[in-house]
Amino acid sequence: MVPFFGLDFNGRSPIMRVGILTGGGDCPGLNAVIRAIVRKGERHYGDDLLGFLDGWRGVMDGEFELLDIARLRGTLPRGGTIIGTSRVSPYLVPGGVEKVHRAMETHELDGLIAIGGEGTLSCASELFDEGIPVVGVPKTIDNDIGGTERTFGFDTAVTIATDAIDRLHTTAESHNRVMVVEVMGRHVGHIATWAGLAGGATMTLIPEEPFDIVEVCDALSRRHQNGRYASIVVVAEGAKPKKGTLEVPEDTFDEYGHIRLGGIANLVATAIESRTGFETRVTILGHVQRGGSPTAFDRVLSSRFGIAAIEAVHDGAFGEMVALQSNEIIRIKLADAVAELKPVSAQLWATAQEFFA
Ligand code: F6P
Repeated sequence: MVPFFGLDFNGRSPIMRVGILTGGGDCPGLNAVIRAIVRKGERHYGDDLLGFLDGWRGVMDGEFELLDIARLRGTLPRGGTIIGTSRVSPYLVPGGVEKVHRAMETHELDGLIAIGGEGTLSCASELFDEGIPVVGVPKTIDNDIGGTERTFGFDTAVTIATDAIDRLHTTAESHNRVMVVEVMGRHVGHIATWAGLAGGATMTLIPEEPFDIVEVCDALSRRHQNGRYASIVVVAEGAKPKKGTLEVPEDTFDEYGHIRLGGIANLVATAIESRTGFETRVTILGHVQRGGSPTAFDRVLSSRFGIAAIEAVHDGAFGEMVALQSNEIIRIKLADAVAELKPVSAQLWATAQEFFA
């Protein structure tokens, strides 16, 4: 089709070859984003859509699958990502950035859509500065990406965590126990705060607000003196005690330099039991929060993000990320989105605290 002032003779922008990748931890709603990109890309623009396998790894190694509407059928409610994901970054592979440039030429790509969290989007932002035409879509159950009120996957994780807390209430009450529930959230406590509020937790511990274990135990003791003998303490995996209040082991890191978390709930539970004498049990929800079908909210948000992302590519809005603000999908600069993680707001945290103990 011959373009005419950037449009074809039907008034549409020209056909493009667009690469799609999903990077970082998987997340419910990834397939819904891909489905939306492919739907609008194929049906409206007539694009060729290439799904690179396992995030940036597939781009660098030239491994992809051609995606079309038929391939995406039935994937809207399916968790995970049909094109695979990894934490591989071109900046950690020798000659990685060069390989991305080469992939753009070899596959004659007009643009890339990177669907990912902090790591994937930071990488996309740097690659854009090096001349790669890339658009970002914010994904993470942690909901910690700046500039967007929500990331898809968060609502599903909160729903799963809330359901778990509801179930723990009845067993805690039957046994007069303290239940410590660990949820994901490495740098921020969005899941913990929302699930704690929704599940009626006795107390919630988040990374943004270092806790004092003595204060936690005192609050539980006061509650149990007042005729309540069961409690639920929700702990974000990245929660930290105030300096000198509870001994924690040295941090360890994975091969991509990501801090390895998981286990703070065990330390908190041991301290609660030994200081208060209340029988205490631990539940670590872990990857259950990332698995399975996205909620209706996440399916809708993912679909909106996907449509907006392919439109951004056709508008030439490279170096930008689609985002949710005031219930509208907008675009912001990738560099601004990744500049800082989004913490739990002071107002929401104050509300959560009203329900403690
Ligand atoms: O970034 C999302 C997240 O779910 C974090 O909350 C968690 O710490 C991390 O992924 C764990 O990911 P993995 O075990 O896949 O490295």
